[in-house]
Amino acid sequence: MIKIDISQIHDFIPGNGIKALEPSIKDAILALENGSGAGNDFIGWMNLASGTDKSLIDAIEDTARQLRENCEVVVVAGIGGSYLGSRAVIEALSNSFSQSVRDGRNPQILFAGHNISEDYLYELTEYLKDKKFGIINISKSGTTTETALAFRLLKKQCEDQFGKDTARKVTVAITDAKRGAARVTADKEGYRSFVIPDNVGGRFSVLTPVGLLPIAVAGYDIRQLIKGAADMEGMTTGAVAFNDNPAAQYAAARNALYRNGKKIEILVNFQPKLHYLSEWWKQLYGESEGKDGKGIFPASVDFSTDLHSMGQWIQEGERTIFETVISVDKVKHSVLVPADDENLDGLNYMAGKHVDEVNKMAELGTRLAHIDGGVPNIRITVPELTEYWIGQLIYMFEKGCGISGYVLGVNPFNQPGVEAYKKNMFALLGKPGYEEESKKILARINK
Ligand code: PA5
Repeated sequence: MIKIDISQIHDFIPGNGIKALEPSIKDAILALENGSGAGNDFIGWMNLASGTDKSLIDAIEDTARQLRENCEVVVVAGIGGSYLGSRAVIEALSNSFSQSVRDGRNPQILFAGHNISEDYLYELTEYLKDKKFGIINISKSGTTTETALAFRLLKKQCEDQFGKDTARKVTVAITDAKRGAARVTADKEGYRSFVIPDNVGGRFSVLTPVGLLPIAVAGYDIRQLIKGAADMEGMTTGAVAFNDNPAAQYAAARNALYRNGKKIEILVNFQPKLHYLSEWWKQLYGESEGKDGKGIFPASVDFSTDLHSMGQWIQEGERTIFETVISVDKVKHSVLVPADDENLDGLNYMAGKHVDEVNKMAELGTRLAHIDGGVPNIRITVPELTEYWIGQLIYMFEKGCGISGYVLGVNPFNQPGVEAYKKNMFALLGKPGYEEESKKILARINK
């Protein structure tokens, strides 16, 4: 089981520490389980893993097989919760170099629709010119500008390159059952499509087709991912004792620290494969908790890389931070430090050691130094980077987020603040329906 160690936060929390939060954590779990809390129409993620419909998994695997057989590259168009989960899992499981090129067995998975960069889109379309490619268009609302814009370009390129019939066969839509332009297009063009359940928000959707299809196309075992999540579901229910429930412990620890002035949580990894897991986690916690003038700011670093950029700040900067370290017990490969007769670099004291032993000592040394420097530390240990353990980790963070948001006193399942930039952008671009807003914004910028 994934383990969480919160022993290194107690010195930073006066009184009886996280024990004081136990009643409100229990209430939060009960509210999630009873569906009696804020945003209760978006808690479908809670039982996605244990309640997965077998025929849905078969259909996802069948679609994945078709894309795998027909495509060298599959482009996933989506933003936020519509791409970060699949990217996090694929990168955590992939060879650091072969997912960036097709490895002969699996199509290369590329991502688009998560920015509005003309250069990015130009370079992507150029790259695809001589490739057999397919598209997975993912948008719950079906109207997100970034994704719709990328999909418009990719759809046209696919049809121009392969003809409408072939393009139809290698395009899949994952969207709402009825609403939105992505649904209208999918139905009209006759694409294969999957539905994002109404009661699952974007950032909690990695265990729906949103995450599962791209992960299966990349060649990974989605059944194991779901099994890991389902097992963690069982380990984080209200029936599990507070001290044995990793999601409850995590939510309690971070809220106790927040109440004691630790306003920033830095998610730390020592494996570059986990970079996108941190991006997914930042969205999960940032969009869920940052509202009503409250919320821990979720940040992330990749160590030891960032010890040479952010290490100084973390060691000696303003003491408003805490760290949550994801430590991976067992790595996949073996590389020993070679002995060298001349020892010009002075590294012979490490000769014969595994590189991972050096990494683990860097991790321990860093944790101790940062704790000494006034940075509380939570440590999450993952046995290995496999589908099963990543499934556990994902569910643990999702459950921890739901609990934590309720303890903080916010609705963790909405994101009203995301609309503000869109309103301005649409007014500035002259989108129909935004005429009044447009006048106001032009007066403001021309003042
Ligand atoms: O968590 C969320 O709901 C958001 O981050 C969405 O996933 C993101 O805005 C993309 O929305 P959509 O899937 O509707 O295109």
